[in-house]
Amino acid sequence: ERDDAIPRDLEGRRVVVSAGGTREPLDPVRFLGNRSSGKQGFALARLAAQRGARVTLIAGNTIGLDAPASVELVHVTTAEQLRVAVDKHATGADAVIMAAAVADFRPVNVAAAKIKKGAGEPNSIELTKTEDILAGLVQARRDGRLTGTAIVGFAAETGDEHGDVLTYARAKLKRKGCDLLVVNAVGEGKAFEVDHNDGWLLGADGTEQALDHGSKALLASRVLDALGPLLR
Ligand code: CTP
Ligand code: CA
Repeated sequence: ERDDAIPRDLEGRRVVVSAGGTREPLDPVRFLGNRSSGKQGFALARLAAQRGARVTLIAGNTIGLDAPASVELVHVTTAEQLRVAVDKHATGADAVIMAAAVADFRPVNVAAAKIKKGAGEPNSIELTKTEDILAGLVQARRDGRLTGTAIVGFAAETGDEHGDVLTYARAKLKRKGCDLLVVNAVGEGKAFEVDHNDGWLLGADGTEQALDHGSKALLASRVLDALGPLLR
């Protein structure tokens, strides 16, 4: 796509994007993490900037992606650090897009020194829930602590014997209370798998758009297209 084919519809807007995976330390050398690459969040940040937005990209662990041009890049490690950074940058933003894969749980205890084999070695890791950043943003908006910010969530769903991807995604949209949920259908054995659709865009207003299989840049453009009407 030529540069001049990209619309400048986000001129004057401020957009916050989270990307990549969080890491929760166990000791100074070990962590609980996930396989998020950060590619989708980086693609969103890059395109939002190309479309004219002032973009803050808050990145956890990624596969070593180049920083997008003209984007403010903030590095974080843990879910708690991500929460603090998102909350800080969300204030006054026109949109927050939560593409990051946030740990749901973290170890209760973080050893100050490397955990060793031998006496005192652990046989289990006690976990506690992290805060839900996306739900926190929605709550802040309900409470009036955050105003005028559109909130976009991501969900990767597989579906199982109790429900298909869309059923779970619709429930997640309701539960999270965000304005838009980008749903990726992942994994094998989906009960109601559609051949050529990799996901859906679900709007809080009940609109549902199938997302055809395509690049992360293409998905980013679909997401930003859907975001437009949600901006104040
Ligand atoms: N998310 C978040 N804070 C968390 C966990 C998730 O902000 N502690 C955000 C993700 O960035 C994503 C959305 O919530 O935009 C959905 O994440 P997902 O893991 O699909 O949802 P969960 O509510 O954690 O449900 P599940 O039990 O399916 O993991
Ligand atoms: Ca989760």
